[in-house]
Amino acid sequence: MIDTLPIDIQKTAQSRIAELNLDQLTFGHTFADHMFVADFDGKEWTDLRIIPYGDMLFKPALMPLHYGQAIFEGMKAYKSAEGEVLIFRPQENAARLNKSAHRLCMAEIPEDIFMSGLTELLRLDSQWVPQRDNYSLYIRPFMFATDEYIGVSPSKTYRFIIFNCPVGAYYSKPVKVKVETEFVRAATGGTGAAKCAGNYAGSLYPAKLAQEAGYDQLIWTDSTEHKYVEEAGTMNFMFVIDGTLVTPAVSDSILDGITRKSIVQIAKDWGMPVEERKVSIAELIEALESGRLTEAFGAGTAAVVSPISVIGYEGKDYDLPEIKSDNFANRVKIYLDDIKYGRVADPHNWVYHL
Ligand code: COI
Repeated sequence: MIDTLPIDIQKTAQSRIAELNLDQLTFGHTFADHMFVADFDGKEWTDLRIIPYGDMLFKPALMPLHYGQAIFEGMKAYKSAEGEVLIFRPQENAARLNKSAHRLCMAEIPEDIFMSGLTELLRLDSQWVPQRDNYSLYIRPFMFATDEYIGVSPSKTYRFIIFNCPVGAYYSKPVKVKVETEFVRAATGGTGAAKCAGNYAGSLYPAKLAQEAGYDQLIWTDSTEHKYVEEAGTMNFMFVIDGTLVTPAVSDSILDGITRKSIVQIAKDWGMPVEERKVSIAELIEALESGRLTEAFGAGTAAVVSPISVIGYEGKDYDLPEIKSDNFANRVKIYLDDIKYGRVADPHNWVYHL
């Protein structure tokens, strides 16, 4: 519980909560009543306010529409059996947003503004946090340039917003992925470690080709040799080889995922060997063919833990072993959920209480 900064609150005249139907939710289409907004005027963050979720007026010359100074985060709030709203590791998202801001030459947002806005917004919209297993409130903090100017230089002014979407599961079944060896998500020295809009725009075309070929998502490989695996779609990529949790080490082309680092910590807590290092496609294929690779899964905020059923590489599909209930991916998802919904002790203080 924190003492929040002063925020001007303008409540909606007509809540839309009665329209919320958890059985009909598709990810990212339903928005809670309010949003938090703050503006950077070139010197300081001002005008902290909570207003109804709704339209914003911009001119065509708004800089991010042309040059992409736009960054975002994703995190989730859960409702415990007692009705308490719990947010998973939000300070980590605040810190990562600022790393992205630094890389994109944008203003950084002080943690107290981020946390105050988040806290007051969730206190106001607590009814929008679903109280159901596998459901949560997906929280989208983001920031974009607000100068109107079409010269290429950093904007002087910025807007920071947090809005929320009640969500269920991102993937309803294990995913089929293809190792991408032509296109890249992120280049060495590029912006892959930042959560910036352009990274996602560039991934859409290769992902569309993969979907047309019958896959759900891609396994991205490194930009120089296409020799090492990096991320799985919009998630970090993890697998179990000979009982060891193996995952590509974070780098300037791999996002420092919060679900990823939580799973690595839990594996270590459970005494499981963990290797964070470069992993070549050759090693992955060899481990698949010899049966030493027993599990592969993606880890991310939206998708949580998503088991992979098939890995396609150079025209050949490799089926992964049957997904069993005592798999590591399954056990770690259940344990993470238990922490997030407040059902077990929280040994690393990951849960933030409003
Ligand atoms: C997340 O897992 O929060 C992401 O950023 C994925 C998102 C693009 C849906």
